[in-house]
Amino acid sequence: MKNQPTLDALLSKLGEIEHARGPLPAQFAETEELFIEIAALRVSAEDDAAIALFRRRHSSFSSTDTMHGHVCCRPRGYPGDFEIIDRIYRRHVTAKPEHARWDEFFHWGEAVRAVRGRKAYCIERFSDAASRPFASILNIASGPCRDVFEFKQLREASSCHVHCVDLDENAVAYGRQLLAEHSSSVSFGVQNVLRAQFDQKYDLVWSAGLFDYLPDSMFVRLLRRLESSVAPKGELIVGNFGPALRSRAYMEFGEWRLTYRDEARLHDLAVAAGFAAARISVDTEETGVNHFLRVNAR
Ligand SMILES: C[S@@+](CC[C@H](N)C(=O)[O-])C[C@H]1O[C@@H](n2cnc3c(N)ncnc32)[C@H](O)[C@@H]1O
Repeated sequence: MKNQPTLDALLSKLGEIEHARGPLPAQFAETEELFIEIAALRVSAEDDAAIALFRRRHSSFSSTDTMHGHVCCRPRGYPGDFEIIDRIYRRHVTAKPEHARWDEFFHWGEAVRAVRGRKAYCIERFSDAASRPFASILNIASGPCRDVFEFKQLREASSCHVHCVDLDENAVAYGRQLLAEHSSSVSFGVQNVLRAQFDQKYDLVWSAGLFDYLPDSMFVRLLRRLESSVAPKGELIVGNFGPALRSRAYMEFGEWRLTYRDEARLHDLAVAAGFAAARISVDTEETGVNHFLRVNAR
């Protein structure tokens, strides 16, 4: 019978890839598989410690120059900050040649393609909303605002007002600068949306990249509360990563953890929030990974 590899053996294989300056494109699939095998053997606090030590000892994982280094180091203190999200949108690759292949690997992964897919989906929904006269959008957990910026390049976006809210003041400062030329139709707030109240009603209340960090109880509460900010005939849309994700193990190697939910689960949570089934639908963006729960106004 073939011996099963140990976690140490798999980590030393990963170390060899690091020493070879990252995987070549022909090795991307097997490298992804290696992260999946490592995740399967990660069962104890000792395993977590071995992985943390590996990350510290290998420079592509311990420096914010690389995409996965930024994930591992969490320079803003939380996962999925506006900088890593904008680097994903811009397909940023480190200027350090010894690590560039790792960044190409990062951008090849399903999760990252799904983040870019969610931006495309967002711009489509913003455009739908903008077809209404004097349309307004509330963008919850707005991050870098790259989606708003690209939406604002469209002709139909010019008269649509977008209010962007984020807990991280640096994210808001970044978005404000990116959207400086649209300051008459884009506004910002630094707020914790778990506590914030919004006086106005919006044609679209949108949130992506937030609900997948929330436990079910908070998900339901926030969904219920945000619905009160939707204008008549308007819509509430929230995104959440689905569970069919091959890059999950790689993301979790860097401690980027989400609550993955499929379409049925999102539907059930909307019902738990008190919405009639006739008002609920679930979409999926083009990569098939991100789902979007849509709730129509009453
Ligand atoms: C993964 S990013 C998503 C950004 C953007 N929606 C996108 O899809 O490009 C998550 C953002 O949520 C923000 N965030 C996390 N918790 C929040 C909260 N309680 N209230 C407001 N913003 C929050 C973070 O600061 C971060 O900018």
